Amino acid sequence: MEILRYDILILGSGLAGLRAALQASIVSNGKLRIAVISKVQAMRSHSVAAEGGISGVLYPKEYNDSFSLHAYDTVKGSDFLADQDAVEILARLAPEEIRFFDHLGTPWSRLPDGRIAQRPFGGMSVPRTAYAADKTGFFMMSTLYSNLQRFDNVEIFHEHIATSILLENGVFRGFTVLDLESGEMNLFLGKAGIIATGGGARVYSFTTVSQASTGDGIAIAYRAGIPVKDMEFVQFHPTALIPSGTLITEAARGEGGYLINRLGERFMKRYAPQKMELAPRDIISRAMITEIIEGRGLRDEESGLDYLYLDLRHLGERVFRDKLPMIREITRKLINLDPLSEPIPVLPAAHYTMGGIHVDTYGQVMLDDKTPIPNLWAAGEVAAVSIHGANRLGSNALSECVVWGRITGSLAADYALKAPDTMLNISQIVTNKAREEESRVFDRLIHREVGGENPYLIKRELQRMMDDMVGIFRDGSILGEAWSKLKRLKERMSQARLEYVGKTYNNNLRDILEINNMISVAETIIVGAITRRESRGAHYRLDYPSRDDTNYLKHTIVYYRVGEEPIVTYTPVRITLWKPEERRY
Ligand code: FUM
Repeated sequence: MEILRYDILILGSGLAGLRAALQASIVSNGKLRIAVISKVQAMRSHSVAAEGGISGVLYPKEYNDSFSLHAYDTVKGSDFLADQDAVEILARLAPEEIRFFDHLGTPWSRLPDGRIAQRPFGGMSVPRTAYAADKTGFFMMSTLYSNLQRFDNVEIFHEHIATSILLENGVFRGFTVLDLESGEMNLFLGKAGIIATGGGARVYSFTTVSQASTGDGIAIAYRAGIPVKDMEFVQFHPTALIPSGTLITEAARGEGGYLINRLGERFMKRYAPQKMELAPRDIISRAMITEIIEGRGLRDEESGLDYLYLDLRHLGERVFRDKLPMIREITRKLINLDPLSEPIPVLPAAHYTMGGIHVDTYGQVMLDDKTPIPNLWAAGEVAAVSIHGANRLGSNALSECVVWGRITGSLAADYALKAPDTMLNISQIVTNKAREEESRVFDRLIHREVGGENPYLIKRELQRMMDDMVGIFRDGSILGEAWSKLKRLKERMSQARLEYVGKTYNNNLRDILEINNMISVAETIIVGAITRRESRGAHYRLDYPSRDDTNYLKHTIVYYRVGEEPIVTYTPVRITLWKPEERRY
């Protein structure tokens, strides 16, 4: 096993990871050696699929906006589960980041006078979402990727999947990493680390996220003994195209689109009469499923999927040309439909992991409530800071990625600049852990002698179970069944057999690693959903339909235990200014 040594190891090459790499390079004047380790080619990270925009207060006077209003909207959107000190940081730093990207060259959409344009988004009181047409993530990623080329100190390891996190006496030492091209396992040692691998919405089958969003960072942290927070809160985006699940951006509603049912009604008037189609996603997704359950939806016979309509016909050609070009391209290419003349069939799909690795306000990874790992941070969707609480507002994700990419990049750089080179010496404990991991992957996964389970069938069953039993509406007894089924799937997965045992680009092996990660992610979602006996934000329990601030105004923390049931504890929500109130839209 080759040993590679760096000052900072960044796992993940989406917006949070690349922003962290850029910040650490700037802070250290290009002195620190930084490795960015990415399961995919970096520009295929899921951040490139972000469409509608990034939130941040740019025009307080024109829009009567303020940091405090952005923070309040976010806290209310979160159903009061967000940590308010972190939300205040988001509101203050997001505008700086939008302007920073402007200086780096992001081609933002513009107002006629040349300033950065902003559009309305769900749950936001005023237009505060900056955008680059409907390809915001792609343009922000290209900006970061091209700017990073100026720094020789950053090396990107494309198509390298981390299989474990190595901790020694509560200190981060590195990752074991499989090079997908050569099939070799390498040991990356670092003085400091940042995990930025994104979310795990692929545990559901009807989803807007890429095939790669399998929650790897969350899963390997969890199995290394790092607790995860609030995993029961999974966001369902209201407008995914059927049958593929491709995202139809919320910006389409921000630009004036309607949601209509089979009867042609704008049904949101029954659920959020003031905000209508720009209510938060948890409320709209539940409204859509209710319309379908009550018989006002439509059915696509070929896929068997129910749907409602997103009607954009009245927006006109110019809006599509200037602001939503990709939406027209997507519907034309995928379902041969021109949204100028026909409404788009849509259904809510799993979109975002609100929970994630337990970190403090500044992204520092916690081993428990009182014990930080001194040299490990997490940023972006993989982390639960927590600014989204029980429900994220659209366009706050990109702000989170760049704000906490910057914060964790700075903190990791400060740490690595002071840390002695002896931190990169290898110890017996790390050697043993790396060898054990090598043997798990090569002896027990690739060259398994017994067992004939097909991992792809297990994956399909897992995703269908999550769709059917752990979706938008949940129920205690069904969650209990999901838990038993998950245990059986886990057992079967331990007997999974690889078809291909070669080294180069062994995608079967990568898939098995991912499916094991998905099972870990599903475990944390289900256990959190079972133990939270209330309804809050995206977690709706039919058997406990009200929010219960007396018993559940707290974050769920789940710890992995080898061969045993996970342990669930709680930690308080940090409230600075806004006391919980009823959410009305
Ligand atoms: O609809 C969208 O463009 C998604 C945005 C987001 O999830 O923040």
